Amino acid sequence: MEKKDIDWGNLGFAYMPTDKRFVANYKNGAWDEGTLTSDPNVVLNECACVFQYSQSCFEGLKAYTTEDGHIVTFRPDLNAERMANSARRLEMPAYPEDKFIEAVVKTVEANEAYVPPYGSGATLYIRPYMFGSNAVIGVKPADEYQFRILTTPVGPYFKGGAKPLTIRVSDFDRAAPHGTGHIKAGLNYAMSLHAIVSAHQEGYDENMYLDAATRTKVEETGGANFIFVTKDGTVVTPKSDSILPSITRRSLMYVAEHYLGLKAETREVYFDEVKDFAECGLCGTAAVISPVGKIVDHGKEICFPSGMTEMGPVTKKLYETLTGIQMGRIEAPEGWIKVI
Ligand code: PLP
Ligand code: COI
Repeated sequence: MEKKDIDWGNLGFAYMPTDKRFVANYKNGAWDEGTLTSDPNVVLNECACVFQYSQSCFEGLKAYTTEDGHIVTFRPDLNAERMANSARRLEMPAYPEDKFIEAVVKTVEANEAYVPPYGSGATLYIRPYMFGSNAVIGVKPADEYQFRILTTPVGPYFKGGAKPLTIRVSDFDRAAPHGTGHIKAGLNYAMSLHAIVSAHQEGYDENMYLDAATRTKVEETGGANFIFVTKDGTVVTPKSDSILPSITRRSLMYVAEHYLGLKAETREVYFDEVKDFAECGLCGTAAVISPVGKIVDHGKEICFPSGMTEMGPVTKKLYETLTGIQMGRIEAPEGWIKVI
C-alpha cells in the first residue's frame, strides 16, 4: 500500500478528509449493516434532533503503525463500551459493541494510505460519532440515528509538542453532579468553547475545571484527565463521577503499577494539595500525556518542580511506556492491542 504524500512530521491536530468513512443508519428500531462511503458530507433535515437539541455523542481513538509495520488500534473495546454508555444516557440506541470494533477496523483498512508511518510522530485519529437524524420539534429523542466513523491523520494536540503547558483554573464549570460529565456528549464540548477561547486569548493552553458543587476538587480539562505525581513518586489521578473515564488514564494507572512498580492512587484530589505535587500531566487519546508546568489560579501561580522546559521524570517514563506499548516496542497486556 502506497502512503499518501503527506508531511507527516508537521501535522497538527486538524481535520483532513481521507478516502472513506463508515456510515450506518438506525430506523424502525434497528441498525442497518452500514457501509463505507466516499462522501464526506451529511445532509439532514433542518429540524434534525442533533441540530435542535444536540442529541449527539462521539468517541476518539487512534491507529498506529508499529515498529514491525503492522497497523494497530489501542483498546477499541473500551471506546465501544463508553460510546454505548454515552448513547444510553442520551436516550440513543447503542451501536452494538462488536459492530463498533468491526466498523473501526473496516474504516482504518480503507484509509491505510493515511495511517502515518512508524516514527513519524503522527497517528491516524479515528472519530466515531452518532446523532439523532430525524426531525423533532417537541423536546424528545429522535427515532432515527446515524452512526459514522471518520478518520484523519494528526500530529500533537498541543502546539509545541512535549513542551510543558500553562493552564488556568476556570471560572466556568464543565459538568454538574449527576449531569453528563462522565459521558462523551457533544454538548459537554459546546459549553466548553467559550472557556477555551477565552483561555487562549489570555495566553493559557487549557482550563482546569473544579467540581461544580464545592469548587474544591480537581476534575479535568476540556479534553483530557489529570495525572499528578507526588514528591515520593506516587501517581495520583482524580476520582469523580462527573469526569470522562479516560481510557488513557486507566491504562496509565495500570502501567504505573504493573510496568513501572509505582504506587498508583485514584482518589479525590483537592485543589489545595496540587501545589505539593512534583509533576502534573494531561492525558487522553489526543493529548497522549502532555506535561503541565504551571497552573494559574486567579493570578496565583503553582509552578511544578519539573519546570517549563521538559517533562518530569515520572511523566516521561509513563509516556515512553504507554507509547512503547501502542507502537509495539513494549509487550502489551493481554487484549490491549487490536491488530488491523
Ligand atoms: N476527558 C475529556 C473531557 C476528553 O474529551 C477526553 C478525550 O477523549 C479525555 C478525558 C481522555 O479520554 P481518553 O483517554 O479515553 O481519550
Ligand atoms: C480525544 O482525545 O480523543 C478527544 O476526544 C479529546 C478532544 C479534545 C479532541
